Amino acid sequence: MNILILGSGGREHALAWAVAQNPKCDQLIVAPGNAGMAAVAQCAAIDPCDADAVLDLVQAESIGFVIVGPEAPLAAGVADRLRDAGVLTFGPSAAAAELEASKSFTKAICDAAGAPTAAYGHFTDADAAKAYVRQQGAPIVVKADGLAAGKGVIVAMTEAEALAAIDDMFGGEFGAAGAEVVIEEFMDGEEASFFVLCDGADVLAVGTAQDHKRVGDGDTGPNTGGMGAYSPAPVLTDAVAALAMDQIVKPTVAEMAKRGTPYQGVLYAGLMIKDGQPRLVEYNVRFGDPECQVLMMRLGAQALDAMVACAEGRLADMAVTWADDHAVTVVLAARGYPGAYDKGSVINGLDDLPADSKNMVFHAGTAARDGHIVATGGRVLNVTARGNSLAEAQKRAYAMVDQIDWPDGFCRRDIGWRALD
Ligand code: AMP
Ligand code: GLY
Repeated sequence: MNILILGSGGREHALAWAVAQNPKCDQLIVAPGNAGMAAVAQCAAIDPCDADAVLDLVQAESIGFVIVGPEAPLAAGVADRLRDAGVLTFGPSAAAAELEASKSFTKAICDAAGAPTAAYGHFTDADAAKAYVRQQGAPIVVKADGLAAGKGVIVAMTEAEALAAIDDMFGGEFGAAGAEVVIEEFMDGEEASFFVLCDGADVLAVGTAQDHKRVGDGDTGPNTGGMGAYSPAPVLTDAVAALAMDQIVKPTVAEMAKRGTPYQGVLYAGLMIKDGQPRLVEYNVRFGDPECQVLMMRLGAQALDAMVACAEGRLADMAVTWADDHAVTVVLAARGYPGAYDKGSVINGLDDLPADSKNMVFHAGTAARDGHIVATGGRVLNVTARGNSLAEAQKRAYAMVDQIDWPDGFCRRDIGWRALD
């Protein structure tokens, strides 16, 4: 079968790498893709949010299966358009993608499903929001309701911070995303991510991971899209995962089906775990980036079978098998990220690195220029390794990092610390 993956980051490179290993995959195209994917896929320079362009490509290349990587095409209804045209597609409808696109929608679903999450209020004007903050006190969490590129959440340790965040949001700092605000109880505990394929009715867990959101070692400095990840997440024990499945994921999937907007695709549940009890922080309607890189490293070719079964509504008969392994990915970012950074610097040393089932450098923001690989984004490379232990995987990943010659890049040196401590 010919397969199309939509997206251009490290997540999509990892998906392409896993899918390409499966003998069911004939031709593989990533749109728009990036320079690192050339070894496993062809890149097509189209906008993944442009449903007409995607449909044209699907027809021209006789694509039999489409995997949608990022949230933007999902929120834009690209999966709906593909399914309406009879194309087998992995990824939720725009209506189901509201689970990521609207925080208040997710809170309402949790209410209806009885899923444990933080207590909250939903506001459309600043005065009512401020009155709620004054009544609840700090710490408290202020969230822009809509998609804000991961930046619309302020964990306020003081009441003054929360009030300022409300002014910023209603003042337009997050654009339309901040026109409505959700204010939540601060949840204490350890965060982990749980990835579950859902076919509208049945579910299949495909792994756990922990991300490192802060830019600096020891979880310091500003938030980023994620500076590294590892899988599995030890805090998400089998017992905690079973609770998360029964109390959070399954009731959500049932509620979405009941509303006539069944959820099909991967549901990424961000959990806060305390004393063995998971509560939902947020849903994302896609694989995490860079969490996907460690999941794909561990799943390999079977990821394609699971995604096809998901799209065909056959998850009840599907299983995935894990080696008793661990994976780590270290993000190399351009100096300055998550603030302003330069583009175009040359990265050397990549050709000498191993590329096999235990070691892979996934590209997130690169281009090929005059025979060199150059950086074109904030997060640029995802240096990923697998091992029998987390320590072994971490050692392999940093051994590769140390062979990469890129003076304009940096990384965290402590990916995995929480689990290794
Ligand atoms: P979100 O975009 O909803 O994942 O929020 C970004 C980050 O803010 C989360 O990963 C948490 O670290 C933090 N956060 C969000 N909601 C809460 C909450 N209710 N209590 C504590 N931390 C939170
Ligand atoms: N790494 C966090 C995310 O993909 O949302």
